[in-house]
Amino acid sequence: MSAHVDIPPVNDLRTELLKISLESLTRDGNSSSLAQRARIVCSDPETRQNIDRAAKELEASDVPVAFPTETVYGLGADATRSAAVRNIFAAKGRPADNPLIVHVHSIAQLGSLLQPDKDEGSKNDGREKSDGEAILPPIYRPLIKRFWPGPLTIILRNPEGSHLAKEVTAGLTTFGARMPSHPVALALLQTSDRPLAAPSANASTKPSPTTAAHVLHDLNGRINFILDGGPCGVGVESTVVDGLSDPPTVLRPGGVSLEMLKNVEGWQNVVVGYQDAAGGKDDKPKAPGMKYKHYTPKASVILFEAGLSPPTLEEIEARCTKSGNIGVIRTASWPGLHTSGRIIPVEDAALATSSNGAASSAGEEIHATLYQIQQTDDSTLRTIWDIELGKKADHVAKGLFAALRLLDLKNVDAIFVEGIDDTTGDAAAAVMNRLRKAAEIKT
Ligand code: TXA
Ligand code: MG
Repeated sequence: MSAHVDIPPVNDLRTELLKISLESLTRDGNSSSLAQRARIVCSDPETRQNIDRAAKELEASDVPVAFPTETVYGLGADATRSAAVRNIFAAKGRPADNPLIVHVHSIAQLGSLLQPDKDEGSKNDGREKSDGEAILPPIYRPLIKRFWPGPLTIILRNPEGSHLAKEVTAGLTTFGARMPSHPVALALLQTSDRPLAAPSANASTKPSPTTAAHVLHDLNGRINFILDGGPCGVGVESTVVDGLSDPPTVLRPGGVSLEMLKNVEGWQNVVVGYQDAAGGKDDKPKAPGMKYKHYTPKASVILFEAGLSPPTLEEIEARCTKSGNIGVIRTASWPGLHTSGRIIPVEDAALATSSNGAASSAGEEIHATLYQIQQTDDSTLRTIWDIELGKKADHVAKGLFAALRLLDLKNVDAIFVEGIDDTTGDAAAAVMNRLRKAAEIKT
């Protein structure tokens, strides 16, 4: 693995959650034009003030700001300023050779990044107006019309004399860009009017954060502000596509599926350019981030491919190595645990149900139910935390990272996960890709 940036992470900041009223953020027009779809207006003074504070922080300091997107929370900084971008890497402990995605609020803003910085003296900072659409490679135009704002990242050529800080691209000649659809992300981008480089707001190697509480857990003391917009809707990161290659390639599966891409003009032949399993033979993947250890809770994860029966009690007990706690994540068809012999539900409701969304406002939390494994000799206490994510791929995507994080908080030794069919549902391939990277796989 390569070198980390050499500035030490700041641990002495007082991280604040900034409240957002999602209902107060509305689109400034209805759907037909992309520019209108992405324009956000705010009717709540407190929300307005908090977005302004975050925007001011991005402008006046080099400390990154965490904000919700429709996929996962991002950790953003002005993509045109090296000092600010370096602090993203420092706060996360991210390897410096893993490039960042640049978030934009408009095609015009993206267009200004595709033009070189002609006059270094009066440095254009990515705010200049231009006809972005005209300088976008034609292959991307129908794609953007269909999926932006939304969970799709496109790879573009970085021009000579780019406005982007060199740390954003980590030495590549290309950069990734996306226009997020989350109203808080769009409002922040519009208010700051700067392109924001933003990776997921987790500590490097941990599962991506889908609530403000997850961000706080990983980055407390390292940043000043987290905009708290409640849980993210998609739950897995954006799909990364490279339309500069022939045929066009998916570099990372995400919120937009292969099937959805294939329905777009010029994308019928799109191919998969990523590998699922960790440590595959292709050790130079085209999306550099895909080679790193990722999505890993402390516990070992045992992934059962779709259609396999649940683990037996013996298999579960064999994994009780330290704490004696085990996690189970069920999806499409594994039955509830209480049906099987020595496993009994723990009656105390207060003990039995728990969630990790606590610090985040909205009510969609992950619940884990506690069971005890009865021992014949009564010597050790062994327990199972059981989580049901639902049958649909999109529900599994939405809850997956929160479930892995919650089980880590429960200090489980191992997590058994029921896999899903990776061909059904928009986010199914993304879910299985993340799990296969985190897990030992049972087929
Ligand atoms: O949904 C998302 O994409 C979230 C939210 C915050 O927008 N962001 C995110 O960023 O997941 P991050 O840094 O965790 O993942 C970025 C991925 C990495 O796999 C990286 O290697 C790839 O995008 N990437 C970035 N720039 C690239 C480039 N020029 N060429 C190929 N891959 C690139
Ligand atoms: Mg990430």
